[in-house]
Amino acid sequence: MQTNRRTFLTAAGVSALAAGASALQGQTEKPLRIAIIGTGHRAWAHLAILKNLPQYQVVALADPTPPNLDRAATLAPGAKTYTDYHKLLAERNDIDAVIVITPSFLHSEVTVAALNRGLPVLCEKPMATRVEDANKMIEASKKAGKPLYIGFQKRLVPATRKMHDLAAAGEIGQVEFVSANLFRGDWNPESWKYTDPKTGVATNWRYLTFTEGSAILEDGIHEIDSLNWIINGKVAHVTAAGGNNVYKDRETVDHAAIIVEYESGVKLGFDFCLFGQDTGPQARRMVIIGSEGSMMPENGKVAIRSRKGGRAAKYVEVTDNTPKSVTAQEIGSALDPETYQQYLLFEKTVRAGAPPLVNPEEAKNAIKLVLLAEKSLRTHRIMSWNDLPA
Ligand SMILES: NC(=O)c1ccc[n+]([C@@H]2O[C@H](COP(=O)([O-])OP(=O)(O)OC[C@H]3O[C@@H](n4cnc5c(N)ncnc54)[C@H](O)[C@@H]3O)[C@@H](O)[C@H]2O)c1
Repeated sequence: MQTNRRTFLTAAGVSALAAGASALQGQTEKPLRIAIIGTGHRAWAHLAILKNLPQYQVVALADPTPPNLDRAATLAPGAKTYTDYHKLLAERNDIDAVIVITPSFLHSEVTVAALNRGLPVLCEKPMATRVEDANKMIEASKKAGKPLYIGFQKRLVPATRKMHDLAAAGEIGQVEFVSANLFRGDWNPESWKYTDPKTGVATNWRYLTFTEGSAILEDGIHEIDSLNWIINGKVAHVTAAGGNNVYKDRETVDHAAIIVEYESGVKLGFDFCLFGQDTGPQARRMVIIGSEGSMMPENGKVAIRSRKGGRAAKYVEVTDNTPKSVTAQEIGSALDPETYQQYLLFEKTVRAGAPPLVNPEEAKNAIKLVLLAEKSLRTHRIMSWNDLPA
C-alpha cells in the first residue's frame, strides 16, 4: 500500500495534486453539503476556512454543548443545529459528507456511524485513541465503499510537502536519520470537559488517557505522521522516556523523548515538550538526513546541504497556491492555510474518487507508533511493532 502511494505521489507530486484539486473550484457543480459533528475550537477554525470555499455548504452542526454549538452556528448561517449527532445522521438525507471534529476518543464511534449511513468522512487527527478503533473505521469505510480522509493537514505545509517530493526523488540519497521536535505551551484550558459517569467529575478531555489517548496523539503526531510519510518505511521498535515534570494535575504526560527504529535501519528521534512556550523558530523543527546530504525548512524554503558540498546550502523555493484571503487569516493563534488545501483535496476525493492524501492505514500506523511510545515511557521497555494489534 505504501509503495503504491509513493509511486502515485512521486509521479504527480503533492503540489500538483493540490493544484489539480483547485481546478475543481469552477463552481460548475453544486456545493458539497456537509455536516460538522463536534463544534468546539477546532471546528470554529474549520468554519473560518470554509468561508473561503464556495464549493462547500455547511448544512448541519451537532454538539451536546450549547455555547459551542451556538458559536459554530454564527459561523455557518443557515445550518441546522443538533445536540445529538445520532439525530442528525438519522434525520438528514441531503448530506454529501461528514466532518468529524469531536474529542479524539469519539472519532471512531462517530466516523463509523457516518460511514454506515453511506457518507464520506473527513475525520480530524488523530484517527483514534486505540488501534482497534482505527481498524473499525477502516472496515466501515471498506464496507460502505465510501472514502475516509484523516486530517493530517500538516503534510500540506509547503516545505513539508516539498521535502516529501525531494526525498522521493532521491535528492539527499536514501533518508537515513531524522531529528524533529515539538516544543509548545499547554493545552487550551477551555477544552471540553469530560464527565466521568462513575464520579461525576468533569475534567479537561486533554488531561485524561481515556479521552486523549496520549499527549503525543494530540500534537506531535503531526510531525510523526509527516516524517513517517517522508521516510516511507516500516517501524521495527519504539522506545521513549517521559512523564509529568511540570504539570502534575493530569494523567497525560507533559514531555517525552522518543526514538523510532525502522526495519531499514533508519532512526527517527522526536522530542515533545508541553511547557516549552517560547522556543520560537525552534518550536517545530525537522531535519532529514540522507546518505548524500540533509534538508530542512529554512526561511520559507527548503535548505539542502550536500555531504560533499561543505556548509553552503542550496535553497529550493516552495510554492503555495492558497489565496491571500486565507494565508493572511489568523485563526485562533495560528495561520492555517493547510486546512484550506486539505478541503481542496477532500473535495477531489469525494467528487472524483481521488485516493485520500492521507491513507487511513498510514494514519493508523501513526497512532500505533505514538501508542507504542506511550507504552514504552510508561513501562520503561523497548516496544516492538507487534506489541500492539495490526
Ligand atoms: N488538525 C489540527 O491541527 C487540530 C487542531 C486542534 C484540534 N484538533 C483535533 O480536533 C478535535 C477537537 O478538538 P477541539 O480543539 O475542537 O476540542 P474542544 O474541546 O474545543 O471541542 C470539542 C467539542 O466536541 C464536543 N463533543 C463532545 N462530545 C460530543 C459528542 N458526543 N458529539 C458531538 N460533539 C461532542 C464538545 O462539546 C466540544 O464542543 C480533537 O480530535 C483534536 O485532536 C486537530
